[in-house]
Amino acid sequence: MIHIETKKEELSLLVILPGDPLRGEYIAKNFLSNVKKTNSIRNMFGFLGDYKGKKVSIQSTGMGIPSISIYLNELIMLGAKKFIRIGTCGSISDSTNLRDLILVQSAATDSSFNKIRFNGEIDYPATPSFELLLNAYKTALNLDFKTIISSVLTSDTFYYESDMSSRFKLWEKYGLTAIEMETAALYTISKGANVDSLSILSVTDHIVKKESLSPQERVNSLNDMITLSLEAIISE
Ligand code: HPA
Repeated sequence: MIHIETKKEELSLLVILPGDPLRGEYIAKNFLSNVKKTNSIRNMFGFLGDYKGKKVSIQSTGMGIPSISIYLNELIMLGAKKFIRIGTCGSISDSTNLRDLILVQSAATDSSFNKIRFNGEIDYPATPSFELLLNAYKTALNLDFKTIISSVLTSDTFYYESDMSSRFKLWEKYGLTAIEMETAALYTISKGANVDSLSILSVTDHIVKKESLSPQERVNSLNDMITLSLEAIISE
């Protein structure tokens, strides 16, 4: 593949997708055994390792729809079947706060990528694999992790030009509790390719309240999300 040098036999059917390559390395080092680095192209690291006796791959995706789309398409071409994205998001809701974990039940988007895919004729409802969502929810209950099942906005914009507060209020009213930049593409591409996917997001920023987790707090909330994703992806 152009962006992934991982060989088919070095890839698990089960893939965890962090955005940040160094987060991928952190997961491989701290949560997996028998680790092999399988991708280094553009430093977008990929790893294969064992988690509780099962082979799991990690492939970092970079930020935004174009980047995750490239890696997801190539992983699907290589034969991977189940994907859990673990990412961060910024809350726009009073009831969703720093450190909360969101299981994303649907993703709206301001990106044109689905307009192009569907000839501008429909607004596609990007949704996860229900089985993976249910698995992750049950796994979280077993681990005693609190999760929020919610819709989010997948945006192409991180730094907005104008004041967005009235838009944030409107979106929140319709159940979009947080903003991130990848999930709508993950869900749409997965559905079209008949593979399973789910996004789990940790709230690291509160866009309206203008709060952010410190670097150490980001790591701690990450650990719960990593455990949840690994346990959910290996459970049938
Ligand atoms: N906006 C979009 N994506 C994000 C944010 C944000 O504020 N925080 C983490 N991912």
